[in-house]
Amino acid sequence: MPHARTAESKPARPGAEEWVPASADVAQLAQAVHDCRGCELWGPATQAVFSSGPDDATVMLVGEQPGDREDREGEPFVGPAGRVLADALHAAGLDAEQVYVTNAVKHFRFTERGKQRLHKKPDVAHIRACGPWLEAELTAVRPRVVVALGATAARALLGREVRIGAERGQLLDGETHDVVVTTHPSSLLRLRDRSEFGEKFGALVADLRTAAEAAG
Ligand code: URA
Ligand code: SF4
Repeated sequence: MPHARTAESKPARPGAEEWVPASADVAQLAQAVHDCRGCELWGPATQAVFSSGPDDATVMLVGEQPGDREDREGEPFVGPAGRVLADALHAAGLDAEQVYVTNAVKHFRFTERGKQRLHKKPDVAHIRACGPWLEAELTAVRPRVVVALGATAARALLGREVRIGAERGQLLDGETHDVVVTTHPSSLLRLRDRSEFGEKFGALVADLRTAAEAAG
């Protein structure tokens, strides 16, 4: 049965829009995000995790969502995936201090198993709800190239489903900024086999190099 829509009815999950201040700089956004109730993910999380890096960066990296460590520390990519990312940036000739790093979703989504908090992928609804923050960051930073680390970030940036294998390493989009999609560094953490790690790492580095070159 179709839902009755009335002027008064409010969606259960309004999305972040009403919490995102207009024409804000990154510092103002990073402050305001702590009040966001745009979806239910704020509830169980410790805190919102915003971005790191300079707000005049030419390269922006977008991950999926904060992990367990990031949730506790309040900084993106400070856990195991962050170490892989830092190594890959270095190998690609990018200064980790010179890139702006953020996530498609700003709160950690997890399920609890005993004392452990296990990462749970955000739904499309969470990616959409959190989109206004990423939009505001793009407006504030105006990067030349944005790197989507994995499918969640790619969906957030391109607004459609992206198969990483089919589209990785290309310069996509192109209006205000180019988008390069690549694998998420945490997917490398799951590889036991050293040679497979080397191959996947090399591909990540190559994609980051493509982004670096496009940024000039
Ligand atoms: N994975 C992400 O996508 N983002 C982080 O900040 C940490 C891990
Ligand atoms: Fe707001 Fe995003 Fe957190 Fe949801 S995940 S409450 S939209 S900041």
